[in-house]
Amino acid sequence: MRTPVFVTVLLLLGALVVTSMLGMGGMDGMGGGMPMMGQGQGQSASGGEAIYKQFCATCHGADGKGALPGAPDFTDPGGRLSKSDEVLLKHILEGFQSPGSPMAMPPKGGNPGLSVDELRATLAYIRERFGK
Ligand code: HEC
Repeated sequence: MRTPVFVTVLLLLGALVVTSMLGMGGMDGMGGGMPMMGQGQGQSASGGEAIYKQFCATCHGADGKGALPGAPDFTDPGGRLSKSDEVLLKHILEGFQSPGSPMAMPPKGGNPGLSVDELRATLAYIRERFGK
């Protein structure tokens, strides 16, 4: 059966591509040259830092307090980081929207090329940097 789900998915993907292009000035992880970023640091928290700054800070802010309406304040002690790694990683991978929230967290921050390990490292960076 043809359901509108397909159309919705296409629209969503389109929106994500536009979002990432706006955020990144056209660089969305296609290996198009980021000479100042070292290679081979994907697993560590410092790799997480690079990913955070490139792919997440657009919405979450370099200070983790949220740069757009709906983006949570990671530095709030009773806030999102009080959830378990397991839950947060799932929400990063699959996307997440709280009831009544003006904006959703897009799956993988809108960058399907990011791996689970990279996103785990990014979460580790978020905890390390904003969690205390
Ligand atoms: C397009 C904007 C946007 C981008 C890009 C983005 N986020 Fe989010 N993120 C959000 C919003 C909005 C929420 C809150 C969603 C809600 O609660 O409804 C959120 C929530 C979260 C949460 C909390 C989830 C929870 O269970 O409460 C984590 C963790 C998170 N984002 C991590 C990331 C990481 C890591 C990246 C980069 C790979 C990223 N985000 C990129 C908008 C974004």
